[in-house]
Amino acid sequence: MDWRSELKALEEALAELKEKYRQAVDPNVLEEVRVKFLGRKGPIKALLNFIREVPPHERRELGRAINEIKNAFETWIQEKRDQLGEKEEEIKDPTLPSRQNSLGHKHIISQTIAEIVDIFREMGFALADGPEIEQEYYNFTALNIDVTHPSREAFDTFYLNLPPDSDKGKYLLRSHTSPMQVRIMERFSPPVAVIVPGRVYRPDAVDASHSFMFHQIEGFLVDTDVRFSHLKGILMEFARKYFYDDVRLRFRPHYFPFTEPSAEVDISCLFCKGKGCSVCKYSGWIEVLGCGMIHPNVLAAVGGEYMAKTGFAFGMGVERLCMLKYRIPDIRLFYNADVRFLRQF
Ligand code: DAH
Repeated sequence: MDWRSELKALEEALAELKEKYRQAVDPNVLEEVRVKFLGRKGPIKALLNFIREVPPHERRELGRAINEIKNAFETWIQEKRDQLGEKEEEIKDPTLPSRQNSLGHKHIISQTIAEIVDIFREMGFALADGPEIEQEYYNFTALNIDVTHPSREAFDTFYLNLPPDSDKGKYLLRSHTSPMQVRIMERFSPPVAVIVPGRVYRPDAVDASHSFMFHQIEGFLVDTDVRFSHLKGILMEFARKYFYDDVRLRFRPHYFPFTEPSAEVDISCLFCKGKGCSVCKYSGWIEVLGCGMIHPNVLAAVGGEYMAKTGFAFGMGVERLCMLKYRIPDIRLFYNADVRFLRQF
């Protein structure tokens, strides 16, 4: 008898066993397999008995080979037992609470938008949204933004590779939410009071305070005899509710093409209450938004009933307001999907 082919057969028998009992097995079955393989009438024993018949100089080789197979078999049996043990462990305590699925929650930017929108809805503003793919006419022309204005340059606006509309010009990703002033006035008769949250896009290099995409909230109101004092009152109420109760506002003269007069609005610093600290750079004030009385050219672009009306408008950056309130140091934290950051809110 050729012991090498016997050895080969034994190896194959072990491989077959492993294949046959790949799934977890009943411990009793496992014990049967063990006894059969290692037992007195098993193949290991038979081969061991055979050693005597093998030429002396080959005995050691055969002995070692048999031992290897035996060890491999025993290791395998032990692994199977461990697997079973683990299985038993898993179902040992049926009173343990089940694993919870994480439902997640609203992103802090969505929460901030909802909070701001709520404040304005309480004051009677309606909620609207508009297209992120805009046209030159709405993004610029109707808003009294001159063709020579730098914001129209390719380095300030994402133009899309679409055939331009003969009427409304090129297509682009809107660079602000202000185009919705015109779109809404075209569709609805005055009076209107609307709040428009949404994404805006600018090809800015990304850093701690800039992103190529961010969120704005546009608000405007048009009626008969609307005055700057109405704008101040509305924004005061907003700042009290969003920031803190005894907040003060400062309206600094500024220039926007679509409002006249225009202002930038600062709040008294929410950390030092105006005394001066590192957040407000020791000025006591923090800039929060832009606003003004809607420019007559914008009302004229809509025409009709709007020619005889006046109104105010304002625009604010959601990320900025959120960063101020929670002292978030870097705008990129909002977008990098690190749930450890997002879970805090
Ligand atoms: N659209 C301006 C921007 O993106 C923000 C703005 C300023 C909006 C003044 C307004 C406004 O409605 O009156 O920078």
